[in-house]
Amino acid sequence: MTKVLIATEKPFSKQAVAEVSQVFKEAGFELDILEKYTSKDELIAAMPGVHGMIVRSDIVDSDIINAAPSLKIVVRAGAGYDNVDLAAATEKGVTVMNTPGQNSNAVAELVFGMLIYLNRNGFNGTAGAELRGKKIGIHAYGYVGRIVALIAKGMGMKVFAYDPFVDRVVIENDGVTCLQTIEELYSICQYISLHIPANQETRGSVNEALLSLMPEGATLVNTARKEVIDEAGLLKVMAEREDFRYLSDIAPDCREEIEGKYAGRYFFTPKKMGAQTAEANLNAGVAAAKQIVAFIENGENTFKVN
Ligand code: 3PG
Repeated sequence: MTKVLIATEKPFSKQAVAEVSQVFKEAGFELDILEKYTSKDELIAAMPGVHGMIVRSDIVDSDIINAAPSLKIVVRAGAGYDNVDLAAATEKGVTVMNTPGQNSNAVAELVFGMLIYLNRNGFNGTAGAELRGKKIGIHAYGYVGRIVALIAKGMGMKVFAYDPFVDRVVIENDGVTCLQTIEELYSICQYISLHIPANQETRGSVNEALLSLMPEGATLVNTARKEVIDEAGLLKVMAEREDFRYLSDIAPDCREEIEGKYAGRYFFTPKKMGAQTAEANLNAGVAAAKQIVAFIENGENTFKVN
């Protein structure tokens, strides 16, 4: 019997787990669920006999892959698959997939949640600032970036985007100004929302040179990955510019320094929670389950990333 493991250190909602379980029940697959585990050893212990695996930001490295010789497929229920060692998976003939777009709305909504929280001074009763009429730059126009653009336009913001991998026409059809260089984006926009994946090219790429270009009241919102920020550069800009603010879904490694020195100029979620809504859990979890069933039964590999 095909055995699937859901390994989520940060669990899905109850409803998502129920609906995912139903997908596997109908397929006649056995399902194991490992939630809120606290050590890699616990995950390794759950691997033997597993053919398919659903994870979120859980680390799937060669130790995990090697612990299940029967493993055929890992689906990252979400967008970013930087937590999965693709080379190790490929070496063992394990297919890796993601579920693009399924949790994007949740992430996009959090961008504005954090922006409004900071702009209203943590809801402390003092006069804050509005977003209407301000310029927002979307750094990478993928699933999340597009929804951020839509919401920003609805709020009356002026929306700009930079993405060398997306056709200019796609961006402009959304009523968004497409910029040709990243420097233009950072020079023009008071608000920058990051949506680049974390990979070899992007790690540390949001650096001092770019951040220094931002106009007065500069606010960087990071719902992507902390690794894309050059934290030394960020700290330098925060030290040099009293107007510079940083919002991030998951704290940076330099959290203590920022929290110690720059009150009122930052907000960090305690745990990555951009995709942590009932709807996103359901969409991404069920998509992942269906992808596993379609792969095992018919070799369907549309969302394969390795
Ligand atoms: C993603 O890449 O899909 C998001 O960062 C969500 O990650 P999570 O599933 O760990 O919440």
